[in-house]
Amino acid sequence: MKYNFDEITVRKGTDCVKYDGVLETWGRDDLLPMWVADMDFRTPPFIINAIRQRLDHEVLGYTLPCQSWYDSIINWVGKRHGIQVKQEEIGFVPGIVRAIAFAVNCFTEVGDKVMVQPPVYHPFFLVSERNKREVVYSPLEIRDGQVHINFDRFRQDIKGCKLFILCNPHNPGGRVWNLEELQTIADICHENGTMVISDEIHADLTLPGYRHHSFSTVSETARMNSITFMAPSKAFNMPGISSSYSLIFNEVIREKFNEFMEASELAMGNMFAYLACAAAYSNGTEWLDQMLSYVQGNIDFTERFLQERIPAISMLKPQASYLIFLDCRKLGLSQEALVNLFVDKAHLALNDGTMFGPEGKGFMRLNVGCPRSILKQALEQLARAIG
Ligand SMILES: Cc1ncc(COP(=O)(O)O)c(C=O)c1O
Repeated sequence: MKYNFDEITVRKGTDCVKYDGVLETWGRDDLLPMWVADMDFRTPPFIINAIRQRLDHEVLGYTLPCQSWYDSIINWVGKRHGIQVKQEEIGFVPGIVRAIAFAVNCFTEVGDKVMVQPPVYHPFFLVSERNKREVVYSPLEIRDGQVHINFDRFRQDIKGCKLFILCNPHNPGGRVWNLEELQTIADICHENGTMVISDEIHADLTLPGYRHHSFSTVSETARMNSITFMAPSKAFNMPGISSSYSLIFNEVIREKFNEFMEASELAMGNMFAYLACAAAYSNGTEWLDQMLSYVQGNIDFTERFLQERIPAISMLKPQASYLIFLDCRKLGLSQEALVNLFVDKAHLALNDGTMFGPEGKGFMRLNVGCPRSILKQALEQLARAIG
């Protein structure tokens, strides 16, 4: 491998949430952090160099989206995900969670119904609730080591919903939805007059052997009834730079969203977002493929370790991303006791599964976007705690 993902980079003391936020969140500082969804790997050198080069100019003024930002997105999503997009269909958004909040405010009114599929990335429902929308929870089923959509349930729950927020690929389940599932979602949502927001921040983290289907590509119905949010931030480990963007193919939806964004001057990006995104997408294929193969190695390592040393814990094997939903239900503990086991006995900081909805009871989310030695240490601590 050209890049060294075994290297340990000290992050503590950089005000990073993952390490420096442990004390505030758990009230103690002796936990190995395996929680927040960023990675311990260095942001790739071609991104750091692009930022360094720009700093050399020494005037950090207001910045337009550069042509290479548009071109690199068009090329990247075209090659990697088969999305044919024109420049005018791309828009800057200052983070996907914020963009979801903007879309909720733009396309729904207070009291309108917004559907989500728990266990799911919690800001989907938090943002909707805090903006006084009625959240409709349409739970996924967890069986055979994966999350699944029960379409009978989906069909019932979607009735009357203005918006459906899809996690594609899914966090924390790690599922890469297949073509048929996405086409079915598109048809049902269209029949019910429900617009779809497809959050595809994990798309570039699709693991070897799987293929991400961008929602907009699965049918004309899907393309015309959706907004897609993407970002290079997760895959290239730079979420500290808000560098996300929207793809909107339906002109009416696009104009409405753009008007909303422009009314509050929300669509103005910053120079680092534009140039870091362009650097990532123009130079990133080799780094990304190597990183994904390393992460796959971490996932396989975790699976083997659990089978051999902690058989009471299994996992939903991710098809995308470096987040593993650990199924701890066989331990037979209450959620409080489970969390205490991880914190007090194993000295680990993981995300409590119920943070993603009550369906996450009995689960903990483990982040394996780290050098294998750190992962090994975490799993050893867990094995010792369980005894
Ligand atoms: C599904 C999903 N969407 C969005 C985000 C965060 O996106 P942003 O930092 O662009 O708001 C995350 C981060 O974990 C995520 O998992």
